Amino acid sequence: MKPFFDIQAQYEEHKAEMGAAMQKVLSSGNFIMGPAVFELEEQLQGYTGAKHCITCANGTDALQIVMMAAGIGPGDEVITTPFTFISTAETIALLGATPVFVDIEKDSYLINADLIEEKITEKTKAIIPVSLYGQIPDMDAINAVANRYSKLNQQKIYVIEDAAQSFGATYKGKKSCNVSEVATTSFFPTKPLGCYGDGGAIFTSDDELAGVMKQVKSHGQSAHYHHVRVGVNSRLDTLQAAILQVKLKHFDSQVLKRQQIAERYNQEYKDQDVITPIVLPERSHVYGQYTLRVQNRDSFRKSLQAQGVPSCVHYPIPLHQQPAFSDSTAYCPVAEQLCEEVVSLPMCLYLDE
Ligand SMILES: Cc1ncc(COP(=O)(O)O)c(C=O)c1O
Repeated sequence: MKPFFDIQAQYEEHKAEMGAAMQKVLSSGNFIMGPAVFELEEQLQGYTGAKHCITCANGTDALQIVMMAAGIGPGDEVITTPFTFISTAETIALLGATPVFVDIEKDSYLINADLIEEKITEKTKAIIPVSLYGQIPDMDAINAVANRYSKLNQQKIYVIEDAAQSFGATYKGKKSCNVSEVATTSFFPTKPLGCYGDGGAIFTSDDELAGVMKQVKSHGQSAHYHHVRVGVNSRLDTLQAAILQVKLKHFDSQVLKRQQIAERYNQEYKDQDVITPIVLPERSHVYGQYTLRVQNRDSFRKSLQAQGVPSCVHYPIPLHQQPAFSDSTAYCPVAEQLCEEVVSLPMCLYLDE
C-alpha cells in the first residue's frame, strides 16, 4: 500500500535546495534562534499580511502560548468545536480553563457561528474556531459576536483562529492566520506548509499581545535572565526554519496542485453515493485534508484498501465524547454524526493519475 502522505517525494524534488539550506545552518553552528528563524518570521508576516509572526516549537504550544498571554486559566471558558484534533481543546483544559463545545455545520464541517452566542457567558475569554481541513469558518460572524460581547461584558473575548490545517487558505481575500485578532498554525510534516520535524507559529497584528507572547514563549523573559512572567520554552529549530524557507518559495504552486487534486476527486465522485467537500463563498480551500462523507464507511475503506489506496478518519470521536473531556452537557449531534461518516483520501502532491 502507498503511504497516505508522501513526504519523501517532495524532499527528492527539492533535494539540492534543501541540502544547501540545511548545510548552511550546520556550518554556522547556530542551531537555536539562528538567522533563518527571524528571516522566516518576516517572510511569514509578508505572506499572511499579519504584522507579527512568532514561531514556536509546534502548533499545540502555539495555542497554549496565546492563551497564557491572554491570561486564560481556571474559572474561564473557551468556546470551540468538538470536531477537531485534540490540541485545540487540550490546551484549554491544560491551563485549567473549560472548553465549551459548539456544534458544527453539516456542509462545511466548521463551527456553526450561529450557535456561538448562546454559549457565551461572563466567563467566556476566547473563541477558537478551527479552519478544519483547510477552509476558514465564518470569521466575520465570529469576530462580530466576540466584539459585541467584549463590550457588553466589559471583558475581552479573544478570537483565536486554529489554522493548523489551513495555512495559505483565504477568506474574503485575506490569508488564514490574518482573519482574526490572533491565530496559530502547525508545521507538522503533513500540514500544508510542513517542515521535517515539529514546528509552529503564532500570528497577530496586536503589538501588545505580540510582546507578551514573545515573552511567554521564551521563559517569560523581557531580557536575557529577566523573567517578568511564567512562560515556557518553545522555539522553532533553526534547521526547521531553513527547511520552511525553501518550502515557502514553492508553496503557492503546491496549494494549486492540492486544489487540482481535489477537483479531480470531485469530478470522479460526482455521480456516486458520496458527499464531496464544498468550498464556501469568498474562500479558497487548501485541502489540508480531502474528506468525503459516506454512509457505509467501513466497506468503503475496505474497498479502497483492496485497491491499494490508504484512507484515514479525521476524526472518529468528537472531543466532547472523548474520555479526557466527556462533557455530557455538550449538545453536538452534527459532529457526532459526521464522526461516523467522514473519510479522508490521500492528499499529497505526488499522487499519480
Ligand atoms: C486543528 C489542529 N490544531 C492543532 C494541532 C497541533 O499541531 P502540532 O501537531 O504541531 O502540535 C493540529 C495538528 O495536527 C491540528 O490539526
